[in-house]
Amino acid sequence: MANYKIAIIVGSLRKDSINRKIARSMCAIRGDKLECGMVEIGDLPLYNQDYDLQRAQPEAYVRFREQIAAADGILFCTPEYNRGVPGVLKNAIDVGSRPYGRSVWDRKPAAIISASPGAIGGFGANHQLRQACVFLNMPVMQQPEAYLGHVSDDSFDNDGCLKDGPLKDVVGKLAHAFHDWVEMILRARELLEHDAARTERAAKKMQTA
Ligand code: FNR
Repeated sequence: MANYKIAIIVGSLRKDSINRKIARSMCAIRGDKLECGMVEIGDLPLYNQDYDLQRAQPEAYVRFREQIAAADGILFCTPEYNRGVPGVLKNAIDVGSRPYGRSVWDRKPAAIISASPGAIGGFGANHQLRQACVFLNMPVMQQPEAYLGHVSDDSFDNDGCLKDGPLKDVVGKLAHAFHDWVEMILRARELLEHDAARTERAAKKMQTA
């Protein structure tokens, strides 16, 4: 079975971000099959549609779009800011979605994790992000849902790894489910493409017969 390249996008620029640590821990758990790489979003200039008309795109846009395009799947790990998606993450979503017709998000399997010290676990941000993913044609993992509440610095050891306990168990389940989700979407797509090619070859053969 294949290894999948996963682009991790964290919706927080904070150096000690709990969401960054959750993303790292999740990838470590399925490190045998998921090759995860952090894709930074803090240097992306605020999206401006005028850029789409220019031949030379901002360097950070080019770098970001290439990194997303090269990924097999996307793992979003985000805090909630004022019951919504942090601006820096929404900006990254918008940058990747344009120029029109050349979105790098299209058809990428994804998972959305939100973590917060609060009780609701970033539910609002999580679903706001899902809404964008629907429009962007990204199949987002349905279950288990991942609104991780009561997460704090105490949830991690000095190396930033999750301590043993219920949260680590949940993140472990998410890691396995996400791997299976990416595999299911990519393999289904491969089979469909294979079938379509076979049908086309058969049709051509009929025409020449
Ligand atoms: C927050 N925080 C927060 N938490 C939450 O559960 N719901 C919310 O709506 C908000 N709103 C919010 C707005 C702003 C501007 C900040 C800075 C923070 C608290 C937030 O969950 C907490 O700071 C997390 O630790 C942020 O995640 P990282 O940076 O640790 O990944």
